[in-house]
Amino acid sequence: MPALVLLGAQWGDEGKGKATDLLGGSVDYVVRYQGGNNAGHTVVVGDQKYALHLLPSGILSPGCTPVIGNGVVVDPSVLFSELSGLNERGVDTSKLLISGNAHIITPYNVTVDKVTERFLGKRKIGTTGRGIGPTYADKINRVGIRVQDLYDESILTQKVEAALDAKNQMLTKLYNRRAIATGQVVEELLGYAEKLRPYVTDTVLVLNQALEQDKVVLFEGGQGTLLDIDHGTYPFVTSSNPTAGGACTGSGVGPTKITRVIGILKAYTTRVGAGPFPTELFDEDGEALRRIGGERGVTTGRDRRCGWFDAVIARYATRVNGLTDFFLTKLDVLTGWEQIPVCVAYEIDGKRVEELPYSQSDFHHAKPVYEMLPGWSEDITGAKSFSDLPKNAQAYVKALEEMSGAPISAIGVGPGRDETIEINSFL
Ligand code: GDP
Ligand code: IMO
Ligand code: MG
Repeated sequence: MPALVLLGAQWGDEGKGKATDLLGGSVDYVVRYQGGNNAGHTVVVGDQKYALHLLPSGILSPGCTPVIGNGVVVDPSVLFSELSGLNERGVDTSKLLISGNAHIITPYNVTVDKVTERFLGKRKIGTTGRGIGPTYADKINRVGIRVQDLYDESILTQKVEAALDAKNQMLTKLYNRRAIATGQVVEELLGYAEKLRPYVTDTVLVLNQALEQDKVVLFEGGQGTLLDIDHGTYPFVTSSNPTAGGACTGSGVGPTKITRVIGILKAYTTRVGAGPFPTELFDEDGEALRRIGGERGVTTGRDRRCGWFDAVIARYATRVNGLTDFFLTKLDVLTGWEQIPVCVAYEIDGKRVEELPYSQSDFHHAKPVYEMLPGWSEDITGAKSFSDLPKNAQAYVKALEEMSGAPISAIGVGPGRDETIEINSFL
């Protein structure tokens, strides 16, 4: 009953979509367990490029059943536009399963996300504006709308009314916006009910039965470890748990069932939105990483902030997720540098610190301590095995592995499915 968790080890956009798609051919179920359409996962198959936001990347593998777990927040309008976009390109999406307990991103959650960010001004988080935070806030406040609520008009009306009660006070009195009418929201949500019905099921039961029958289940995280609401750089985080424990709560599969936890790790570091980032570069090296790595957000089109690899973060990801493996991505992007700096520790108030500080202020003051590793100039995009890599690229990978605390079991040398060096099998 192999159950694998695949998650981002940094601030998201590590290449989770590519890694999930690569494994998708050998697994029976791919499950999203948290987040929503704030994610942007790029998958390149041959000359075709797909950008997935809400749907699990396994949807592109014909034998695989994609599942949206209870921990995900679902914007139905985004779901249907993503499904029809894939159908137009010949992808069969009929196997999709959606948990009846997943929460719905309502139009007022999107409004509240945008208005709150505007109100925060300089202190804004830089959210994706997709209503993610307000939807999770409603869930925790116990005024959320779940997928199953769409099948009882009277319950739905009562719940929307309860949710809008306080929000309309806030929108009209604090933010000077118009109130949102319950009837209008209920009508829009009911309009999705029948279209959603074929997909909605008890995904907890389905997944646990699948594991009992020795099927292979892969849990695909959105975002990354440092965007986790508990373990990330709070408050500059997303409002869910991308870390490994989230795979259990967000799917209803117990921790004793998880056999492998794979951290997707970029060979350098990127971040979108506000918040601390010790190795961030503001010079031509940062520009070069952005240009060569194509570091532009899949969801919002924002330029990603870029910096050197940070081993302190990688070690932290190993610890909080209990990682068994790393999948190192985008090694090819580093081709051409004579020397590559790698952050091995921080200097905080004149002291060397080896581990991620728990104090937010300390992390804001952390200065990277760099070790220089020799670079390589040979094109590595065609490399099929570790020994095909130039000596210095091999040494870079080995050094990262030693610093990061878990074996590097695969290496990405290009965006395509085939542009991967597999070292240890994941299954
Ligand atoms: P995700 O959110 O973690 O799925 O990552 P994104 O799709 O947002 O960003 C990763 C980007 O890097 C995408 O454009 C991928 O096609 C691309 N990519 C993934 N792995 C590699 C790799 O090994 N090399 C290169 N050059 N690009 C990669
Ligand atoms: P994938 O799955 C990178 C960031 C936003 C913002 C913060 C909160 O593609 O790796 P939210 O809209 O979630 O409330 O925004 O989190 N963020 C991401 N950054 N990749 C993502 O997803 C992200 N999803 C959210 O930029 O800083
Ligand atoms: Mg992304």
